[in-house]
Amino acid sequence: MDKILIEGGVPLYGEVRISGAKNAALPILASTLLAQGTHKIRNLPRLRDIETFGVLLRQLGVGMEVCGDTARIEVGPRTDHRAPYDLVRTMRASVLVLGPLLARMGRAVVSLPGGCAIGSRPIDQHLKGLEALGARISLRHGYVYARASRLQGTTFCFDIPTVTGTENLLMAASLAKGRTVLQNAACEPEVVQLAEALNRMGARIHGAGTDVITIDGVDYLEPAEHWIEADRIEAGTYMVAAAITCGEILLRDCPHRFMEAPIRKLRECGVQIELESDATVRVSASGRPKAVDVTTQPYPGFPTDMQAQLMALLSLARGTSVIRETVFENRFMHVGELVRMGARIEVQGASAVVKGVSRLAGAPVMATDLRASASLILAGLAAEGVTEILRVYHLDRGYERIEEKLSRLGARIQRVKE
Ligand code: UD1
Repeated sequence: MDKILIEGGVPLYGEVRISGAKNAALPILASTLLAQGTHKIRNLPRLRDIETFGVLLRQLGVGMEVCGDTARIEVGPRTDHRAPYDLVRTMRASVLVLGPLLARMGRAVVSLPGGCAIGSRPIDQHLKGLEALGARISLRHGYVYARASRLQGTTFCFDIPTVTGTENLLMAASLAKGRTVLQNAACEPEVVQLAEALNRMGARIHGAGTDVITIDGVDYLEPAEHWIEADRIEAGTYMVAAAITCGEILLRDCPHRFMEAPIRKLRECGVQIELESDATVRVSASGRPKAVDVTTQPYPGFPTDMQAQLMALLSLARGTSVIRETVFENRFMHVGELVRMGARIEVQGASAVVKGVSRLAGAPVMATDLRASASLILAGLAAEGVTEILRVYHLDRGYERIEEKLSRLGARIQRVKE
């Protein structure tokens, strides 16, 4: 298994280009199942999760060719309707095929994703929503069996906002008969980007980006061409990289219009962030950050996907910070690893109390999930000595060529194959 070695203490300088967003690309890939013909997706990031989704699409009988950052996807008149455990287990977002398969094929058999390192993460809201649209759903032997002759528009209110749940229902309702109104829907930019993609395919969706979305079902959708917007979480991670190393990084293709909450928080920590254009941001810092309190929330609040990275920064702050995690119940797996590097963090229920220290020390650490891995990389960039990060496959799921991008900024980082 690969590991990453970082010799910390080098301020990062230079430019980095932010890649297309994984969480925008996955639902748009799933949406291709809704329309027969040739689809084109550009600015696709080269990531393990995208490859896994490609394997799933191919297993469903879809043709997918990737050349550089462009995918050509060929969908026939019928596709298979089964997403097996082997694939869903490695990537929860595989559940995104449920809505489109049901809507176009009239049936879907999709493995239940089960738990993961950051909590139990049920899909009950996806299933309740599809049932409200008229699907007959049963759970057997670890699989969801869903059937419907034609889905029927309805009004459905989510008990809690869910990103992929909203996306699944958007896709299903696009081909339903009549009007669907989704209340308490997720407002994340990736939901908006999926709605825009579906509208390019002929769907009639209004209100995406607010918590009430209206979908007027159509009889069929056409293939289309899509551009994947840059990744706000990758951008936020490079902002913290500049801050934690007291360097200066120019982020190109940075989607800062979707990053108000993390930018505000980083500024509160004393990080300088200048918005130079729609997509160019200069980030710099000197000295230790200030302690701040933060609570993760659905968009437009502070994203849970940036919590671990901010924690790495706050572990070096002057003073005590309190980080409250409200989105996932068990998302502090990185705490124990940061503590091994000298951080002083105590978890109290859904909060982590971070008492800033003046330095971190390199150590062997283990990545537990995607964003936890990013926080360990960031801590390693600032730490004295060498940090050895094991289980880096988590990182490859969501960060495109991270060692290469960081090396170009001056980091002493290398991947070691074992
Ligand atoms: C998506 C993102 C993930 C991000 C998360 C929250 C993708 C591919 N992944 O994950 O990176 O961390 O949003 O911003 O876009 N829940 C239920 N029942 C459900 C669905 C969700 O109880 O049916 C709960 C979850 O356990 C969690 C909360 O709702 O506590 C939010 O989860 P959700 O928005 O669904 O996250 P994902 O869509 O899985």
